Amino acid sequence: MNTKEDFGTPLLSVEDLRISIQQDDHVLHAVDGVEFQIKKGTTLGLVGESGCGKSLTSRSIMQLNPKECETQGQIVYRSEKDKGLQHVNILDLKPTGKMMRSVRGKRISMIFQEPMTALSPLYTIGNQIMENILIHRTKNKKEAKQIALDMLNKVGISNEEKRFNQYPHEFSGGMRQRVMIAMALSCNPELLIADEPTTALDVTIQAQVMELMKDLQKDLEMSILLVTHDLGIIAEMCDEVAVMYLGKIVEKAPVKEIFNNPKHPYTKGLIRSMPKLGGNKNRRLESIEGTVPLAINMSNQCGFYDRCTQRIEGECDKQRVPNYQVNGEHSVRCFLYKNEMEENGHV
Ligand SMILES: Nc1ncnc2c1ncn2[C@@H]1O[C@H](COP(=O)(O)OP(=O)(O)OP(=O)(O)O)[C@@H](O)[C@H]1O
Ligand SMILES: [Mg+2]
Repeated sequence: MNTKEDFGTPLLSVEDLRISIQQDDHVLHAVDGVEFQIKKGTTLGLVGESGCGKSLTSRSIMQLNPKECETQGQIVYRSEKDKGLQHVNILDLKPTGKMMRSVRGKRISMIFQEPMTALSPLYTIGNQIMENILIHRTKNKKEAKQIALDMLNKVGISNEEKRFNQYPHEFSGGMRQRVMIAMALSCNPELLIADEPTTALDVTIQAQVMELMKDLQKDLEMSILLVTHDLGIIAEMCDEVAVMYLGKIVEKAPVKEIFNNPKHPYTKGLIRSMPKLGGNKNRRLESIEGTVPLAINMSNQCGFYDRCTQRIEGECDKQRVPNYQVNGEHSVRCFLYKNEMEENGHV
């Protein structure tokens, strides 16, 4: 686990983010009042079961969500490297405008779960890495090629001159993921968004790619938003964790605090369902019973109510659950803590 001293000014603040999608006869409230901050040089993990809104949340930072998504709220970005972007609400920028283009790919980059969706089969790896460099860093082709070769080398791809001229299908899954990382980092972004970056890879390659991301983070002093449903990866990589359930952040804390002192019954369930290294092989892994409901016709009931073993009838099903502050860095959205903690106002 990382320990970083500079937990100072946030590079990015997501404030009351709401994303709704009109479907045939109803509106899906896929993201419902999400709030978090990413501090400079640190990694925030966004964790939760499938469908809880992790990808929509992270893609909205790049304005990459499909047209049918209606997005509200603020995503305040404070660049240190770019004077024009020292305090902008990304959601106010025109998605195809100049400012958004200088955020996307240059200041903030993204890597996806399946590299083949981001790589074109028609162009060489080298050309694809150079493209972004030529847009954002230099117009000089020779210089751009050298940056691309250095980047391939940095992500552990040897024989880079030969690899530069090959096509994506000539690379293994792990190598393609390295290429994606090289592309994403070729313009020294301040923030890297990694949405399930290693889910498609086998475990040893997964560990190598994560290690690589950690090393490059130190080198380039960037922040990372890491989206995953794997708590093992969270423990390994993150400084802080936001636990997401049904479009909301239900608990947020530094990584040690999440594992040593989880509060929300959902977070506790996620941790119980984690396989333990050296644990009793005969022990059955517990899973959280039930499935995530669809976020339509949202009432005031807590989204976890039907699955929660500690629910309080007459309370958790009747009122909107506020966010309670456990301490300066730890908050939880759960009535169990009503009497112990002060509401922090973000209801
Ligand atoms: N373009 C879309 N049209 C309709 N519904 C969508 C669209 N994109 C996402 N959704 C729905 O919004 C909800 C949140 O989706 P999202 O992809 O953010 O989940 P996720 O947490 O990233 O899940 P996973 O772990 O499976 O990747 C889901 O119910 C999903 O089906
Ligand atoms: Mg996703």
